[in-house]
Amino acid sequence: MDLLSSDRVNRSKPSFDQLNSISEEMESKSAKEVIRWALESYAPNVALASSFGAEDAVLIDLICEIDGAHARIFTLDTGRLNQETYDVMEEVRKRYGVTIEVFFPDSPQVEEMVTQKGINLMYGSIENRKLCCKIRKVDPLKRALTGLECWITGLRREQTITRNEIKKIEIDSAHGNIVKLNPLADWTSDQIWKYIKDNEIPYNKLHDLGYPSIGCAPCTRAVKPGEDSRAGRWWWENSSHKECGLHWDPVKNKSDRSS
Ligand code: ADX
Ligand code: SF4
Repeated sequence: MDLLSSDRVNRSKPSFDQLNSISEEMESKSAKEVIRWALESYAPNVALASSFGAEDAVLIDLICEIDGAHARIFTLDTGRLNQETYDVMEEVRKRYGVTIEVFFPDSPQVEEMVTQKGINLMYGSIENRKLCCKIRKVDPLKRALTGLECWITGLRREQTITRNEIKKIEIDSAHGNIVKLNPLADWTSDQIWKYIKDNEIPYNKLHDLGYPSIGCAPCTRAVKPGEDSRAGRWWWENSSHKECGLHWDPVKNKSDRSS
């Protein structure tokens, strides 16, 4: 059932000031309520950013249940993803009948980068790794967000120190002050997996091989028992602030330009 159709006509978008109080109010609401609010307020200019990890699998299921007809999902295909990621992407397309908007990096920039620095430049230095993330992820994200008023992510507070203060509804100052929705901000990993199993939804099979967090193939590996869930991401870098830049916010991170 399309729960939004009656609201879609004459709806009014919240002002910048209203968003602050809505954000406070939504902190106590469920993921479903938060998503429903966003779809009612912003569809068709709202989309889920999906890397097809466990959190995104849950979000796809929730969004499709709330309003499958208007679900928008995009993914950033860096060109270095695992086959298992493409497999779940295809499973999602078939199971939910959704269109997945795919954004690739700018090919002349990739060609120049790998010609100058090699295909596996990311292992050479942090600067090289960040350049690769910029060209393959961060710049394509900017294109993906063009025209959107709200984007939805699978960020959770528990994932890493850089995320432990995120709100369910934020203003994204890195992307023109559009709304950034993190409906699963307060979910634990156990809750994510209970939802996946209870609802038998498609998920990335790398999770069964010890990968709690999945990015690009050259930069992700399985973790050992007891290791941090993000220990397998850019594992050769020695920092608690490992991020590719997709979620870097210049306002929140005034004093930390490293992530
Ligand atoms: S990352 O910044 O370290 O790569 P992470 O893998 O934890 O992010 O994913 C967090 C959220 O960022 C995902 O739930 C998704 O919303 C978004 N995201 C990450 N990678 C991609 C991608 N390749 N395409 C689209 N969205 C992505
Ligand atoms: Fe490049 Fe690795 Fe960043 Fe993917 S995660 S864009 S392969 S450096």
